[in-house]
Amino acid sequence: MFGARCLLLALRRCSSAPCPKHTQAARLRVCEALEAQEVAGDIKVQGWVRSVRSQKEVLFLHINDGSSLESLQIVADPSLENRDLTFGSAVEVQGKLVKSLHRMQNVELKAENIRVVGPCDTLTFPFKPRERQPLEYSRQFPHLRCRTNALSSLLRVRSEATAAIHSFFKDNGYVHVHTPIITSNDCEGAGELFHVRTSDKVQERGENSHFFNVPAFLTVSGQLHLEVMAGAFTQVFTFGPTFRAENSQSRRHLAEFYMVEAEMSFTESLQDIIQVMEDLFKKATSIVLSKCPQDVELFHKYVSPAQKGRLEQMLKNKFITISYTEAVDILKRAPQTFIFQPKWGSNLQTEHEKYLVKHCGEVPVFVVNYPYDLKPFYMRDNEDGPQHTVAAVDLLVPGIGELCGGSLREERLHFLQPRLERLGLADAYQWYLDLRQFGSAPHGGFGMGFERYLQCILGVDNIKNLFLSRDFLTPVFCSSMADSHGPICAAGLYV
Ligand code: 4AD
Ligand code: MG
Repeated sequence: MFGARCLLLALRRCSSAPCPKHTQAARLRVCEALEAQEVAGDIKVQGWVRSVRSQKEVLFLHINDGSSLESLQIVADPSLENRDLTFGSAVEVQGKLVKSLHRMQNVELKAENIRVVGPCDTLTFPFKPRERQPLEYSRQFPHLRCRTNALSSLLRVRSEATAAIHSFFKDNGYVHVHTPIITSNDCEGAGELFHVRTSDKVQERGENSHFFNVPAFLTVSGQLHLEVMAGAFTQVFTFGPTFRAENSQSRRHLAEFYMVEAEMSFTESLQDIIQVMEDLFKKATSIVLSKCPQDVELFHKYVSPAQKGRLEQMLKNKFITISYTEAVDILKRAPQTFIFQPKWGSNLQTEHEKYLVKHCGEVPVFVVNYPYDLKPFYMRDNEDGPQHTVAAVDLLVPGIGELCGGSLREERLHFLQPRLERLGLADAYQWYLDLRQFGSAPHGGFGMGFERYLQCILGVDNIKNLFLSRDFLTPVFCSSMADSHGPICAAGLYV
């Protein structure tokens, strides 16, 4: 249906072109061509050659343009073959879309003209036809790896997941806010900071190294800016890059990652926040599964065969909620020994989080009400005791541990002010206190790590496989950087 509509539009575009001499061929993306049933007139497809098979009477090509995992089969007369027509070359093929006799595909393109736009030297090109390489192999070629099936599938899933998250919030009446990337606030305690300074060259000219006259950092979270916005809009969200200079070598930490954050005003219970987290996870995931089933399937088939069943369980079941105190009790009674002894008042470690999810039947678990002394100043005091807690919530998911973190915020000036004073932060956060002075409303929100979310959908064990290289460095430089700086600095360089 969709394919036919696109095709009709493409053909109309061409027929209205002011060129009566010869009709221009309609350009179709591979995914549109694959969905089309029958087409009258010439079409044109542009992409990269995934396979060339030359037989005595016929030449077969497969062309991929990144619009789908599947490639389009091209059938041509052997006279159209030329020596530049190789695996990896960029081509433009013109011809007629005809019904295919092959049972795996509806249509194929009967080529009338094949133009090699950019040849590719197959001897030195690092990827070979029909070779399945581990993700780690393609990480050596950050500038070329998007041409592999795994990376292109991942990028389509990333793109659909981004759109699904935006549409979830839009459909539910949230306002999207672009919170700053360079900021002078450090979202107290969310993570180690990257300091933003001018380059040595600017400093040599005697200019101020504090470009903004105050120390500036790359954002670790957009939360405090969202809280400002939540003083005028009842529901806001942001979705952007976030940076943490944690020297972690774990499989779930990046120095640069994307975070989805939401803030809701007039929210008086953690349950309201929990509901949004669960709805977001389930809705966005269902959309991704329906928009790119083949791409997700590729990961479930070749990367993590157990993930499909796990994901179905997550979507089918209601998520479970337990308190931090209950979580510690469960951990203390666990038959296994942990590297970190579970103790009330200590952080839950990844090994604890994974155990809790397993204990709850591999269903995502919300852990609520964490110790007051463990959490940042902005979390709402539960005024309980003797074990004093705040209204915080973490969502733990199978195989990963923490996926989301959030809380009710302390909206009461008479609680927040003394807390900030005790921490010596009252002056720096006067603006934050102002929010509690002028029309303060109970509010709360959460943040979800986008790469961890993708890990959860696709079952990719190492988060470093889910983030693109920030620099297209040569492999030689990549490995020397990785050796000297370790995996966290090299997170982007590796993949
Ligand atoms: O739990 P975090 O630190 O929460 C905040 O930053 C809050 N200010 C969010 C809010 O309430 N608006 O981070 C939120 C999520 C984590 O649960 C995790 O999924 C992800 O961000 N995350 C990371 N992902 C990859 N690499 C890292 N280094 C990450 N640190 C946190
Ligand atoms: Mg957290």
